[in-house]
Amino acid sequence: MNAVTRPRGPRVVRPRSPLSLLRTWVAPDVFDFWASRLHPTWTWERPLARIVARQAQSRDAVTLLLQPNRHWRGFRPGQHVNLGVEIDGVRMTRSYSLSDAPRADGRIAVTVKHIEGGRMSRHLCQDARVGDVVDLGQAFGEMTWPQGADGAWLFLAAGSGITPLMSLLRAHVANGASTPLMLLYWARSRDELCFVDELRALAKQHPNFVVHFVLTRESTLMDGEHRGRIDAALLSSLVSDLGDRDVYACGPGGFVDSARALAGANARSFAAEAFTPPARLIEEGGHVEVTLAASGRTLSVPRGQSLLTALEGQGLKLASGCRMGICNTCACGKVSGTTRHLHTGDAIGEPVSALRLCVNAASSDLVLDL
Ligand code: FES
Repeated sequence: MNAVTRPRGPRVVRPRSPLSLLRTWVAPDVFDFWASRLHPTWTWERPLARIVARQAQSRDAVTLLLQPNRHWRGFRPGQHVNLGVEIDGVRMTRSYSLSDAPRADGRIAVTVKHIEGGRMSRHLCQDARVGDVVDLGQAFGEMTWPQGADGAWLFLAAGSGITPLMSLLRAHVANGASTPLMLLYWARSRDELCFVDELRALAKQHPNFVVHFVLTRESTLMDGEHRGRIDAALLSSLVSDLGDRDVYACGPGGFVDSARALAGANARSFAAEAFTPPARLIEEGGHVEVTLAASGRTLSVPRGQSLLTALEGQGLKLASGCRMGICNTCACGKVSGTTRHLHTGDAIGEPVSALRLCVNAASSDLVLDL
């Protein structure tokens, strides 16, 4: 076989973009510092958002309308974002669902429920003001409208689980609500329900949309309300055609487990997202040594504890968002050692490039890329 050697052409020199030329002279964080003096959300490449409106949504939830800067890449209904704020000198990041459908003005909405003892949710619900700027992560999450979905749907929401389903519902309505969609929405009391007036109005306007509110701690019921926890009797009394429906369920871990047990096998399809982590399967005792390769430190951490909690307990400031293994914010490389997934019990002895510290614990001594 003859090899043909092609003569090399002249080297093509592409002109560098003005931004990459500027990067030679200015570090992005220095640029961000001075740019923020001109406008609060001007940055080199970091997504930020400014709060432009806030609206009480229920007794303990508020909707914040945010204007992202140009570095944010948008979202699909049903997805989540990480928001970051500084509280008492400490930067905190948490994941929140986007509650609106994509809007023509590019603004986005998150609906935040005040969690007892939650510093970030208290800050966003009570202290955050119009004009404040928050760090904004790119959108993530897979519970979105599948391509070409044309069948009937059933949404099961409990508590904060309404927020991504509200985003999906608003997108469904914006697209004409051409297929049947039923929403069953649980809360303890009426004043904890969000979007009630809008949901009732949508049900009046769109014959394909039906909503039922289910309350667990109200003594009297109003039109369209029911009582009780999710169970087979309630589900079959409200949904006569479960076998024809695709189901999305969202809410606390126990609610999602019940929804899966009741509807998982009977519905046409079933997908769920839990806002609280499932019960841990693994309770290992003792301590192991975790070596942080980048900083050269070695720490002793408890075996059965999530690495995120264990390392934070040693004073490390680590990036985190959902703290449930969804957003990937806490991921780092593992060079060696065995870790165990706290929800599945799976042991991983191979090096991995993205170990989620919030849902994995050390099983043996470890070396991490931190
Ligand atoms: S903090 Fe979201 S995956 Fe760990």
